Amino acid sequence: MSQWVAGRICGKRCWTEKLVSLQVEAEVAPFVAGQFTRLALDLDGERVARPYSFVNPPQERPLEFYFVVVPDGRLTPHLERLEPGDHLWVARQGSGFFVLQEVPDGRELWCLSTGTGMGVFLSILRTPEPWARFERVILVHGVRYARELTYGDILADIGRQHPGRFVMIPMVSREETDFALPGRIPGAIENGSLEERAGVQLAPERSQVMICGNPDMVRDTRAVLERRGLRRHRRQAPGHITTENYWRSA
Ligand SMILES: Cc1cc2nc3c(=O)[nH]c(=O)nc-3n(C[C@H](O)[C@H](O)[C@H](O)COP(=O)(O)OP(=O)(O)OC[C@H]3O[C@@H](n4cnc5c(N)ncnc54)[C@H](O)[C@@H]3O)c2cc1C
Ligand SMILES: NC(=O)c1ccc[n+]([C@@H]2O[C@H](COP(=O)([O-])OP(=O)(O)OC[C@H]3O[C@@H](n4cnc5c(N)ncnc54)[C@H](OP(=O)(O)O)[C@@H]3O)[C@@H](O)[C@H]2O)c1
Repeated sequence: MSQWVAGRICGKRCWTEKLVSLQVEAEVAPFVAGQFTRLALDLDGERVARPYSFVNPPQERPLEFYFVVVPDGRLTPHLERLEPGDHLWVARQGSGFFVLQEVPDGRELWCLSTGTGMGVFLSILRTPEPWARFERVILVHGVRYARELTYGDILADIGRQHPGRFVMIPMVSREETDFALPGRIPGAIENGSLEERAGVQLAPERSQVMICGNPDMVRDTRAVLERRGLRRHRRQAPGHITTENYWRSA
């Protein structure tokens, strides 16, 4: 059986000139929220493939992917040009360990993200598991500019479905707003503003933290959390921090 299935674009949302969501119909194998698949296009006689997290929860169709157009990127400028009715390749099998089954129990689940790293949490938080296992979920989305705070409709729905248990914290680093926390995630943990906004403490005895997005953010956030006594989670040595990098640091 081929590892690739044909996917058909059935919806497209352009949030900004660089941030795009594609909805795709494709017969993929069952996956777990938090996993990714690969999308590919045949370009100049070569199949160019990259990993993308599922934004849709496993039980919902169509599939959805959220990406930033990387200037001079090999694949994303071509993905951006796809329109409803066009085709792309989707890897049949999802993979990855950034899933709640790998996260130990705690009182609060913190989901820390930058840029398109937020998308994976839209899949995870639209399954029953986080709400069965944690008292509260805090989702932080760090972006450069306020217009990059996307998916407000789905986030509002999640809040409505779990009243009093979902805290959404937008962060904007490159312009002033009257609603978002300023700066970056590690700084907001260090100066206490993130916990103040969430109304709960980040502490090893109560917190589980999943971090996804810019690898420098993942590294710097982990370092700040480790200074607070939280440890990286490993199956052999349970801890508090589970991470996913979308690319390698320079
Ligand atoms: C497990 C996993 C899941 C991923 N899921 C997503 C996803 O859901 N959405 C998504 O946009 N990307 C995601 N990525 C990144 C994606 O696979 C590609 O690397 C990205 O779309 C760039 O592809 P490209 O061919 O255009 O750029 P390339 O020619 O491959 O250039 C790669 C460079 O682009 C930059 N870059 C890559 N990804 C990003 C990003 N997300 N934000 C900012 N800069 C980036 C980095 O500088 C990187 O070195 C994921 C990566 C991994 C490993
Ligand atoms: N967003 C745009 O308008 C834009 C424009 C041109 C090109 N691009 C390209 O598009 C790609 C994605 O851009 P993006 O804006 O989605 O993602 P990004 O560069 O990862 O920025 C998202 C957020 O992460 C923060 N961040 C960066 N490094 C961090 C660290 N070490 N610790 C904590 N937070 C950190 C940024 O803060 P800071 O603002 O402080 O860095 C920003 O708030 C990049 O390749 C970028 O070069 C984006």
